[in-house]
Amino acid sequence: TYVVTENCIRCKYMDCVNVCPVDCFYEGENMLVIHPDECIDCGVCEPECPAEAIVPDSDPAASDWINLNERYAALWPNISVAKPPPTDAAAMDGVPDKRSLYLS
Ligand code: SF4
Ligand code: F3S
Repeated sequence: TYVVTENCIRCKYMDCVNVCPVDCFYEGENMLVIHPDECIDCGVCEPECPAEAIVPDSDPAASDWINLNERYAALWPNISVAKPPPTDAAAMDGVPDKRSLYLS
């Protein structure tokens, strides 16, 4: 499965949503997550994310985020059509430690 990681937080560019063939993204206030049981591992979303926030679960960068994607995919609503990103998305791109600031 693929995993959404820290740099999605407050960037939320949404490009991933429109390319996923199985609509397995789920939307929180500040980021999206991927449902691990629904992702078919196609990899299409990975290069589409301008924040480079999507990685395969085999990537070391995914390790802190696998459980979080699974947990919130069960709680947050599905999103199948992209909305506009936050107006400050570009300013938030690459800001360190967004998880502790914006995701409890
Ligand atoms: Fe969707 Fe494919 Fe990305 Fe999985 S890897 S979230 S199926 S686009
Ligand atoms: Fe987030 Fe990248 Fe999608 S910033 S909303 S994972 S395009």
